[in-house]
This record gives sequence, structure tokens and C-alpha cells, in this order.
Amino acid sequence: MNGGENTRSPTPNHTIRPERRGPAGGHDRIEGVNARTSQLSDIAAAAGTPCYVYDAGAIRAAYATLDAAFGGYPHAIHYALKANSTLSVVRLLHGLGSHADANSLGEVDVALRCGFGPDQVVFTGVGKSAAEIDRAVSLGLLAINVESPGELDRIDQRAIAQGVRARVALRVNPDIDAKSHPHISTGLKSNKFGVPIDEAPALFREMSSRRGLHPVGAHVHIGSQITTLDPLSKAAAAVVALARDLRGEGVELQHLDMGGGLGISYDGSPVVDPAEYVRALVAATRGSGLKVAIEPGRVLVGPAGVLLSTVVDVKQFPGAKRFIVLDAGMTELMRPALYNAYHRIEPLIRRRGDDVPVDIVGPICESTDAFARDRNFPPVEVGDVIVVRDVGAYGAVMGHTYLRRPLPPEVLIDGDNWRIIRRRQTLDELLALETE
Ligand SMILES: Cc1ncc(COP(=O)(O)O)c(C=O)c1O
Repeated sequence: MNGGENTRSPTPNHTIRPERRGPAGGHDRIEGVNARTSQLSDIAAAAGTPCYVYDAGAIRAAYATLDAAFGGYPHAIHYALKANSTLSVVRLLHGLGSHADANSLGEVDVALRCGFGPDQVVFTGVGKSAAEIDRAVSLGLLAINVESPGELDRIDQRAIAQGVRARVALRVNPDIDAKSHPHISTGLKSNKFGVPIDEAPALFREMSSRRGLHPVGAHVHIGSQITTLDPLSKAAAAVVALARDLRGEGVELQHLDMGGGLGISYDGSPVVDPAEYVRALVAATRGSGLKVAIEPGRVLVGPAGVLLSTVVDVKQFPGAKRFIVLDAGMTELMRPALYNAYHRIEPLIRRRGDDVPVDIVGPICESTDAFARDRNFPPVEVGDVIVVRDVGAYGAVMGHTYLRRPLPPEVLIDGDNWRIIRRRQTLDELLALETE
């Protein structure tokens, strides 16, 4: 870990000082995160590295784009907390009018703590424990997204025992290829998620007949980091057709939850325009008159975050690769090791000199601990700060403490101010659960 203050209160606001360009000229702006070189240098010095930095303005703008594209059509944007559930980020989205999508009971509780009412929370999870079902039912959430006939039974029983009717939505699996990374595709028959869409009408009839269940919606989520509109449109059309058939049978739903999944451009290649995506969902649903719910995560917070890291070593031997070793690795950012994910990486202040191919690696004793391989990169020296872009989603949330590495701090920039919204974990905190 490089410098920084580990134990300061997380709340004080720091004001950004005027721009100062680096010796060889820094960036004016880091795209996505609307911060200047000097601002990020200040943050790296004060909070230490590795350190996540988010831009509140970028999150607001992404939310506003989605919201506006509904054009008055009845909708709810349920921010998927799994992308980034740091309290200040969740509170920010709550303040914008978002609703919440939780994928665990922990996330349900974070949502409630950040101000969401139970009637604004949908709860999804492929394997809900008895305790999770009990609590979800007792909270009276907007919808528990049901994943199987067995789970339907268990929710019904717990609701009857509590003397309530649980609002449920059936998660259907439409057998549509999201054409994303196989590890984040969820809408194929071979995936563990939801019930085959052909089985859905019978299960809706079953739910309608149960004393403890109130079927309010249909839910579909076919994967994440989806970069073409076609699979998302097809999934939407499939649940709209299902709702139409159900209506014919007298089962009237209240909402269609189209899930999340919209991708962002990590490498500059084209992706679906978020407004076009929303318009496609509205076009598919309008005839039904049903409310549309979506569960976006990545598109709201992904581009709004960077990871600041410091070069701790540069090494090259004759005839061998050149390695840039950072103080951040797979413990702070799992995505490259987990999905071979690409992130743009650049020095905060560019030194003069030509780019050369390098491997940009972390300090963890695992060969998969690399952020980039054979990437053309400008010259750097030990102590230089490096910016890893588009890490606002599935970054800090997936952080872990392998090698007894404490979790890094997170900073939120808002206008001219920034503040630490999670301070760096201390080793004592990391060990606090253990006995000697
Ligand atoms: C059920 C559910 N909803 C929403 C999301 C959010 O997806 P994304 O961040 O790709 O928008 C996920 C993530 O895969 C999910 O599993």
C-alpha cells in the first residue's frame, strides 16, 4: 500500500485544488470519471493506493439518460446493488429516484438502510435459504423473484405461516443467448437460472391458486455485459407474449421485470445506446400497458469508477517480457482474473517516450493476477500512479482479502469536492473475527 491515511474519519469533504499539469502534460479529464489529473493525484496522496474513485456526476447522468428514455411510460429502475453496494453509492441512487434490485439478504438490508422502502425492492437469488425466504416474506418486498417450483412452495408455506400473501414474480429462462461472456450469461436452458419459459403458464396458474402467493410479475435476466440489442429485445418480447397469454387465462400481472445486463464499452468498441435500449423495451411492452421494471447495474456505475494504483516495480530481463508491477491486483479488481476482462489502463501523468509492450500485473502470488498482457504502454517509473478505467461496477464489491490484504478505500467525487466513502480496512479489522 502506498502512503495515505488509514484511520481518518470517512466523512470530511476535501475541496479540489486548481488544475496543475504534470511535467509531460497530464490528462485534462479522465473520461467517464470527470476528474482532473491534479484531483486524482490529491486523492491518491491522501487516501493512498490502491483506491477506488467514483464520480457522482457520471452516475447521475447515466441514471437520467435511462429514466428520460422511458418518456413517461410507467416504469421503475431497480438499481442492481450487486454492481456496487457501497452505502454512499446506493444512497446516491436512492436520491435520484431509483428503486433497488437485491441479490442477497445482505443487499436487501443495505437497500433498506440506504432509504429504500420494502415496496421498492425486488429480491432475486438462485438459491434462497429458508432464513432468506422468511425475512423476505416478512419484509413485504415489492417482489420476490421465484426461481423454481420448489422455491414457490417454500415461499407459499412461509407466507401462510406468517399470515400474509407474498408478492412474487416468476423468473423465466427464455433460452436466449446473450452473446456475452459464458460466465455472465444466464438466459440459456443450460444455465441454472429461472424456469423454462414453456413451464411458466402452468406455474403462474399454480401461484394464483396458492393462499400465500400473489403473483405480480414476470422476470427475465439473460446475462450481463450484453453489447447487442437483439437478445435483450427478444427476451422482452418473450415475457410480453407470456403476459398476454396469461391475461387470456385471467392472470393479470402488474409489472414485467426485464432484468439488467446492458453492456458498456470497456475498449472503445460500439455498444448499445442506453436510450435506444429503453425505447426498445417500451416499444415491446406498450401494447400490454404493463409497467416496465429494469435492473441495471453496470451501465449506471461502471464508467463512473477508476482504480488508482501505484507502480511498485518495473522489470525486464534480456529476451524476456517487460513487467509493470502494481500495488493493486486481483484482490482489489477480480474482473481480469475472473473473466479475462479488458480495462483501459493509463499512467495518471504520461512520461515522454514511446509505448512498448508490457504485462501490467498485480503483486499477488498467482499467475492469473494480471490486468493486461502485451499491452502497449508508455514508460513508467516506480512510484507513478496508474489509472484503471471503468471499474465502478463489479470492482470493489468483488474485492477480497487474500494474502491478508485489507480492502482498499473508496472515494466519491461530487462537483468540486471529494470524500472518502469507505476508508481502508486495517489489519486489525480484518482479523477481528478470529480467535488466537
Ligand atoms: C438478477 C440480476 N439483475 C440485474 C443484474 C445487473 O446486471 P448488469 O450489471 O449487467 O446491468 C444482474 C447481474 O448479472 C442480475 O443477476
